[in-house]
Amino acid sequence: MATLGIIGAGAIGTTLARQAIAAGIDVVLANSRGPETLTATVAQLGARARAATPEGAARAGDLVVVSIPLGAYQQLPATALAGRVVLDTSNYYATRDGHRPALDAGEITTSELVQQHLAEAKLVKAFNNISDHHIPVLARPPGAADRSALPIAGDDPRAKASAAELISRLGFDTVDAGPLAESWRFEPETDAYTVPYCADPDALRTAWAQLAEAVRSGTTPQMPAADPGAPLPAARLRTLLAGTSRKLTADRLIA
Ligand SMILES: NC(=O)c1ccc[n+]([C@@H]2O[C@H](COP(=O)([O-])OP(=O)(O)OC[C@H]3O[C@@H](n4cnc5c(N)ncnc54)[C@H](OP(=O)(O)O)[C@@H]3O)[C@@H](O)[C@H]2O)c1
Repeated sequence: MATLGIIGAGAIGTTLARQAIAAGIDVVLANSRGPETLTATVAQLGARARAATPEGAARAGDLVVVSIPLGAYQQLPATALAGRVVLDTSNYYATRDGHRPALDAGEITTSELVQQHLAEAKLVKAFNNISDHHIPVLARPPGAADRSALPIAGDDPRAKASAAELISRLGFDTVDAGPLAESWRFEPETDAYTVPYCADPDALRTAWAQLAEAVRSGTTPQMPAADPGAPLPAARLRTLLAGTSRKLTADRLIA
């Protein structure tokens, strides 16, 4: 592939842009406020980057990453994304995205909801279970002994193969967790969600508890120091995906 479209130029979108550029892939980035607001970001990313509208990024990409708050998913350009492989990084946080009863009840996964809107796109859930700062820290070339794996899920096997190829170029092995209906296996607070990529998992769990308390009490949360990361091999990830239980909104520490 030559060009990656990226809708959402925040923490994950810009991190993936940097990874892609390092792998020799051009990127076209979009946000909600317009390409003119991405001038500084594009300048930092260099000659392989340009900014566009969400429609422009969708049409420019051989593959397209969608990395926006879930609450905005219905604003995604469904027509421009029709027929394309779309990597969906979304997570559902009701306090940020508004309550979605079908998600709260576990009747549907987050990516199935996005797929309903992007009915003609080939959605692959990816990059939602790793913190943005761990992506460059843990990325390794193919075959490296300490390469980490990321889960993917999707309903189209060829789309998953394309996504896996891209993710490999960005530095990670992949483990196929099944169709989108199974992607709850790596949604927030399941066993494969962010913690296994941490060098100090207890510190992250403590930070989650403190964040949950800050949200409850309306105080400003203390941000934890950046964790240096720990490799997660594919075999261990497979075990975590197979053994985890579903985490409904009501069961989560941070919802
Ligand atoms: N941060 C992480 O470590 C992490 C890890 C895994 C998954 N995720 C998930 O990935 C998604 C993105 O997270 P993030 O942390 O990167 O978010 P973020 O830093 O808040 O950035 C969100 C980006 O989405 C853009 N955006 C919002 N609404 C849009 C719309 N309607 N059309 C086009 N662009 C739109 C924003 O543009 P404007 O600024 O112009 O509004 C911004 O560039 C979320 O679902 C999050 O839960 C995050």
